[in-house]
Amino acid sequence: MLAALAAYQKGFAGRNAHICYAMKANSSLAVLQLFAQAGCGFDIVSGGEMARVLAAGGEAHKIIFSGVGKTRAELHEALLAGIGCFNVESEAEIEVLNMVALSIGRKAPISIRVNPNVDPKTHPYISTGLKGNKFGIAHERTLATYQRAASLPGLQVVGIDCHIGSQITEETPYLDAMDRMLDLVESIEATGIPIEHIDFGGGLGINYNGDTPPTADALWAKLLAKLDARGFGKRKLMIEPGRSLVGNAGLCVTEVLYLKPGEQKNFCIVDAAMNDLPRPAMYQAFHTIVPLQTTPTALESAVYDVVGPVCESGDWIGHERRLQIQAGDQLAVLSAGAYCMSMSSNYNSRPKAAEVLVDGSQARLIRQRDSVADQLRGEFLL
Ligand code: LLP
Repeated sequence: MLAALAAYQKGFAGRNAHICYAMKANSSLAVLQLFAQAGCGFDIVSGGEMARVLAAGGEAHKIIFSGVGKTRAELHEALLAGIGCFNVESEAEIEVLNMVALSIGRKAPISIRVNPNVDPKTHPYISTGLKGNKFGIAHERTLATYQRAASLPGLQVVGIDCHIGSQITEETPYLDAMDRMLDLVESIEATGIPIEHIDFGGGLGINYNGDTPPTADALWAKLLAKLDARGFGKRKLMIEPGRSLVGNAGLCVTEVLYLKPGEQKNFCIVDAAMNDLPRPAMYQAFHTIVPLQTTPTALESAVYDVVGPVCESGDWIGHERRLQIQAGDQLAVLSAGAYCMSMSSNYNSRPKAAEVLVDGSQARLIRQRDSVADQLRGEFLL
């Protein structure tokens, strides 16, 4: 995680740039603590995420609050906490935030999240910057929305923001989105509304299956060259990376429960499932699976669908993997640091896994395995 962060820090050396870890990727307290201690701010999308950042020692003024559906209660809490910026995602939200701020005598610092209508060339469920997506304010409405925001007494315009998608493995969508954003900044500032910071969102992909995304420093060298060329090199910059900071720092260890050979398919049934690792079921995502023991040579290899115990045919972790394994073996599912634990659930009343943070030769428990009592807490019989 720290090495991944270092690639961004290297890319931004000497610049006025702020890294706000998009904590939805992995919101475990110890992970947040690590990034807070490394100087990061946080991109949050709920009041629950704000509470986690504060509990982990993060500073409120380094928090930016994104998301299309912030409730009045969340806006109120975040204003009281003194967060750094609200990334506003609709014209209606601007009016509500203004009212909430006025009701408690505060001025809300805002950025408008622009939907630049750029195709990030990723899975449709994780594209966010296209016209048909629910995110951000349409490019054509941006100027009028800034003018409205600047006229409201409860708001203080501080920036502009965009986020075009996730698991992006090409540079072009970023370069295109940056051009569209800078065009907007020029036209907004021409109307007398200064834009202190430009937030380019997150989205940089990682290697799951031979993917070749640019490294953070290489990508930012290109983006910064464009910023410089267009005269924005000294502007305060923000980014919101999630996956690229944690994705390849995590793996899920699971045990082979049963091998089930079949006429059409062989199944390898493991004790992790879609409730622990939802990405394959949700996005047909690929995660490399590696056996963790040296195999007796007598063991035949075979092609398996690696599946979990959940009662759904969509509960799979890997399709058609050649493995030399037997029941009782352990497997590592790689690239599980992002959007696995944070998206895990108790479906089928399965306990959430324990989480261990490894640093060199040190291993520390950072989340205990759910107990049955954890699962029953908060429920009442009639
Ligand atoms: N900023 C905003 C406003 C976002 O919506 C996101 C992710 C990020 C930053 C961080 O993007 P990243 O650097 O992680 O790509 N569950 C999906 C990914 C959903 C991403 C949603 N937004 C998955 O497992 O692939």
